[in-house]
Amino acid sequence: MILAIETSCDDSCAAVLTSSGDVLSSVVGSQVIHDLYGGVVPEIAARHHLELLLPVVERALAEASIGLADLESVAVTQGPGLVGALLVGLATAKGLAAGLGIPLRAVDHLHGHVAASYLAGVPLEPPFLCLVASGGHTLIANVQEPGPNWSVVGTTIDDAAGEAFDKGARILGLGYPGGPLLEEQAKAGDPDAFDFPRAKGVAGADFSFAGLKTSLLYAVRDLGEADATARRADLAASYQAAIVDQLVERVTRAVDSTGVSVVAFGGGVAANSSARLGLTAAGIKLVVPPRKYCTDNAAMIGRASLEVQDLPHDAAFSLDAYSTATRAGR
Ligand SMILES: Nc1ncnc2c1ncn2[C@@H]1O[C@H](COP(=O)(O)OP(=O)(O)OP(=O)(O)O)[C@@H](O)[C@H]1O
Ligand SMILES: [Mg+2]
Repeated sequence: MILAIETSCDDSCAAVLTSSGDVLSSVVGSQVIHDLYGGVVPEIAARHHLELLLPVVERALAEASIGLADLESVAVTQGPGLVGALLVGLATAKGLAAGLGIPLRAVDHLHGHVAASYLAGVPLEPPFLCLVASGGHTLIANVQEPGPNWSVVGTTIDDAAGEAFDKGARILGLGYPGGPLLEEQAKAGDPDAFDFPRAKGVAGADFSFAGLKTSLLYAVRDLGEADATARRADLAASYQAAIVDQLVERVTRAVDSTGVSVVAFGGGVAANSSARLGLTAAGIKLVVPPRKYCTDNAAMIGRASLEVQDLPHDAAFSLDAYSTATRAGR
């Protein structure tokens, strides 16, 4: 039995998995307070993790019908993310592992988003490509072996795809978190109504979303407030189509350049129906986890922990958080 803990951003998450990777429970305590500020406030996130994490751990154990004494290891997200938020998860995980006398495993958050695809319910093993498109990262990993030692085929040169959804939603006055709200708004709109840029000038499998965001800003400004509001669904649908087209084009290029045909899809943007459909319609052999394992959750951290080693006792105690992507997320 593995207890996994994830606190890299504003979700306090705990999950219980068996050592063969079956998820017995996955609990996500979301901090809705951040929508008041239009984005995550790091200090507030850390304070809320302090309040939420232990009850979330208790609920994960209860839903898995086990007690602390049944645990055999603890897995925790080490980074990248908000350091104050990560430290709450790390301290909790260290305390539990030390108190129970069981090993601790440190997991990279992006490795978690990749490993989520092992929870898709279909057989998946390397080699495969993985499009990770989340709030802070967008990259295509070429996974040749289990674990986080993938090579990066393409990455964003500016914003992440999830960030593009969030910023677009903010420009359209839809609120936070923007991805699901923009997707909802786009359902009633025409994706061909506005011709937003697809980063044609960016070669290979790299991404760029900054120009797209600016283009939406200008379109809204040129329309004026009343017309922009009246045409919000068309703007959302066209904006979403531009993001999806770019994802599809870059993944297609990555498949062509690597010869690896199976593509996993992880991170919050993988919850987007249009993105899933677009990739499938382009003939990509897509493996995508259930939506609850696309956005942040601890089940993916527990699953990733099957691919990393136990930390030696000293290293477990001195384990520190890191804020930015390491080699795994270049
Ligand atoms: N249905 C959706 N359509 C589009 N985007 C979505 C959808 N659901 C969530 N997102 C986006 O996914 C992002 C959140 O995903 P995730 O929780 O993986 O990101 P994060 O953990 O904040 O960032 P990272 O994983 O890079 O550290 C947000 O930007 C959100 O807008
Ligand atoms: Mg994430």
